[in-house]
Amino acid sequence: MRIRTFDEYQTAYQKSVDDPEEFWAEIAQHFQWRKPWTKTLQWNFTEPNVKWFIGGKLNITENCLDRHLPTLGDQPAIIWEPNDPAEASVTLTYRMLHDQVCRFANVLKRNGVVKGDRVCIYMPMVPELAIAVLACARIGAVHSVVFGGFSAQSIADRINDAQCKVVVTADGAYRGNKEIPLKSTVDDALIACPSVQRVIVMTRTRTPVSMLKGRDVWWEQEIKQVTADCPAEEMDAEDMLFILYTSGSTGKPKGVVHTCGGYMVYAAYTFQNVFQYEPGQVHFCTADIGWITGHSYIVYGPLACGATSVIFEGTPTYPDYGRFWDITDKHKINILYTAPTAIRSLMSFGLEKVDNHDLSSLQVLGSVGEPINEEAWHWYDDNIGKNRCPIVDTWWQTETGGILISPLAGLTKTKPTYATLPLPGVQPILVDENGIEIEGNGVSGNLCMKFPWPGILRTTYGDHERCRQTYFSAYPGLYFTGDGCLRDEDGYYRITGRVDDVLNVSGHRIGTAEVENAINMHTGVVESAVVGYPHDIKGQGIYAYVITDQQPSDHDADLTKRDILATVSRVIGPIAKPDKIQFVTGLPKTRSGKIMRRILRKIAEGDTNNLGDTTTLLDPSVVDEIKTGAL
Ligand code: WT7
Repeated sequence: MRIRTFDEYQTAYQKSVDDPEEFWAEIAQHFQWRKPWTKTLQWNFTEPNVKWFIGGKLNITENCLDRHLPTLGDQPAIIWEPNDPAEASVTLTYRMLHDQVCRFANVLKRNGVVKGDRVCIYMPMVPELAIAVLACARIGAVHSVVFGGFSAQSIADRINDAQCKVVVTADGAYRGNKEIPLKSTVDDALIACPSVQRVIVMTRTRTPVSMLKGRDVWWEQEIKQVTADCPAEEMDAEDMLFILYTSGSTGKPKGVVHTCGGYMVYAAYTFQNVFQYEPGQVHFCTADIGWITGHSYIVYGPLACGATSVIFEGTPTYPDYGRFWDITDKHKINILYTAPTAIRSLMSFGLEKVDNHDLSSLQVLGSVGEPINEEAWHWYDDNIGKNRCPIVDTWWQTETGGILISPLAGLTKTKPTYATLPLPGVQPILVDENGIEIEGNGVSGNLCMKFPWPGILRTTYGDHERCRQTYFSAYPGLYFTGDGCLRDEDGYYRITGRVDDVLNVSGHRIGTAEVENAINMHTGVVESAVVGYPHDIKGQGIYAYVITDQQPSDHDADLTKRDILATVSRVIGPIAKPDKIQFVTGLPKTRSGKIMRRILRKIAEGDTNNLGDTTTLLDPSVVDEIKTGAL
């Protein structure tokens, strides 16, 4: 499963194209299957219908936990670093984690959860979050983790879409110097969630919470009622493992569905090879488990490989902006995997809190979530990696389950801002607007995939047509990523950003339509249009053009802006709050009523002299007004 030289990479790549089934079958043999698969792959990208390791039976937790016990039972599986550095960190060995997962799996069973049920998990970054995830997988329940920063409304939408039976949460969460109520947010959400029969509440902040009789139970009390004996449920390779919601260019978030066999193989294969993981290494992925990065590279990938994975509860800047480096030295981190937005933010504080750290344990650095600019890349390389740690700029998506395009640490020659080359098993293709392949090097186009890999999404929960429409209809026969991409003279890939109406704010994916819908819910708002603009730290900032029924005076405008921010926070969550709000009396629309976002983007970027063709506008004069009032 492990590629060790660049030559081996090339050989493996060729093999994966010549005989993909044989290629993946060999890799999949490195896992523990209850029953082997009978056919490796069946697929078409028209329906779409993708199945890997057909007939294979397994449980992913046997691969992440049980099979390691004889050899790695006493090795740390999880190191937990709390928000407050004065609180003790916690180490769970594989044996301890196995024990706790089995116990909590029994708690879920006790509370009526059976194979196939959906369980919503809304938790802080504590070991219990990983335990809850794995406990679901143990009994064949489908987890749907909702990031702890989402609002009650967002939780409710996700719970209802998946018809979750149980919610696992905590009283509250610590993040930096803030205490965030989680249970009360869940309570608000559940007013509109009839499918939920049980809420299991873990104690973290001891903030007062209301516990509804007959519905709400305490994690700590439940766990006393069970044993640590919980045989893993036998799952089909194509049984659902989890749902994870992600924003698209239209409407409400989609529930991306991943299945047991393919996802497991892909998460572990990519973890092993991209980071060139060596036994005993400590891996620190700074993402939240509420995002796919945390699913694949905090929980499943590292554990499937027997690695030690760090879970960090806090933020990069608390108690000060040296926290990542404190953690690196304290836990002797070997692999650090973080996001460009975090790097840029830490970079802005200078080197004072970097230079007083050792950092010599670091061996590999990773970047994920958004394009990394050259300055950030070099800062990371020079000051954190001391020019001796390979940087892997890993490109992938919630839908891909794991990394698709990335250097293999130390094997692939890196180039700042380039995700470089596809992993063996990944077949990218660039197409123009008409879906015609753009061949050769030194070209750019829309990034698609022409062949499935085991981690590809199988459907969007409850709405397969939406899956087809979103990913497989723009260019028939291809999976469309939504990203633009350049392939340089060396055949290296550089992701240039989304080509659809999806923003990437601090590595978080946010649909413009979602933000607009939230703004439009505010009283007095007639219409709005949201675009992204370049932001020094966040990568992209959110710029909202808003029409209100009464043009506000300057004083009112400030108040109204605040109210709009409060509305967006309440409807989606603080991460979707616009950075800039401009009140306008009209939006640039074509005669058919379509908003010309191209123009709005240009104005938001401050590039007002190059608006391009505006003659197709219904009322070109609105553009002048918007230009004049631009922020
Ligand atoms: C979108 C997917 C899967 C990781 C977390 C984000 C952008 C992701 C990179 C990268 C340039 C990147 C793309 C992609 N993106 N990684 N290394 N370089 N862009 O997952 O929320 O599903 O977002 O993030 O635009 O489509 P996600």
